[in-house]
Order: sequence, then C-alpha cells, then structure tokens
Amino acid sequence: MKISVINGPNINMLGIREPDIYGKRDYAALVGYIERAASDLGAEVTFFQSNSEGDIVTEIQRAYGNYDGIVINAAAYTHTSVAILDALKAVGLPTVEVHLSDINTREDFRKISYVSLYAEKMICGKGFEGYAEALAYLARKYGK
Ligand code: DQA
Repeated sequence: MKISVINGPNINMLGIREPDIYGKRDYAALVGYIERAASDLGAEVTFFQSNSEGDIVTEIQRAYGNYDGIVINAAAYTHTSVAILDALKAVGLPTVEVHLSDINTREDFRKISYVSLYAEKMICGKGFEGYAEALAYLARKYGK
C-alpha cells in the first residue's frame, strides 16, 4: 500500500505556530511519527508539504497511478479550495482528511470543509495520532 501524505500551508511551522492549538512538536517530528506508524502497518508513505494551493493540486494529480490512497491535511485551504476538492475527485483515490485540531469546535469558518465533500473519512482533534488512524483506516481497506 502506497500512500501520499499531503500537508498544506503553515504545517511546516508546527512547533512554532500556536503551540497551544497545534502542539510543540515540529513538522520533522510529524514526518517521523507517520513513518513509524506506516512501518508498523507495512505501508509505504511519501510526504509533500506546500504553502501553495496550485502545488498541492499538482501533487494530488501526481498521485494518480502512483499511489493507493491519500492522507491530506489541506490546512486553511480545507475551508476555501474548490480546486483541491476537484483534484481529489479527478484522481478518485481513497482519501482520508486529517486535522490536528478539532475544526468543529473552533471558529465557524473552520466548520466548512470542501475536502470533506470527497474524503471517505475525516479525523480531527487527535493531533499526530489522527494521521496514524488515517493510515490504519486505509490499511484496513486494503486488507493489509
Ligand atoms: C488545521 C486546521 C485548519 O483550520 C487550519 O487552517 C490549519 C490546520 C489542523 O490541522 O488543525 O492550518 O488543518
């Protein structure tokens, strides 16, 4: 099982940005955490982080034919990007949406997710663990 793990804007600022909300661990720690979870599941993961909407769209398109699924935290673009939703629909891969924080208990604008209109599952408010749960969900789906 090959999974593309895509993170959106400001996720590279983990550890610095609003630690009360997103925690004190940085992006490298997140990558290490997901790599360990993937190896426990026998899954292969690659990572992509970008602050640019178009680059995220391009990476989603690149997943077509190259990956079995997508785990995506589109960060702020979650709440605004029809382009990311359309890219996910275009490639048609099983997708799990993850958010570190609980977007349902924050500002009203965070309660709207365009990604959720395609994703099979949304996991939020569980910090790093949400990514491990997303991988476990996809692994179960693939019977691995
Ligand atoms: C986030 C939640 C979004 O509302 C926010 O814009 C982010 C991170 C999360 O992981 O909790 O940048 O996706």
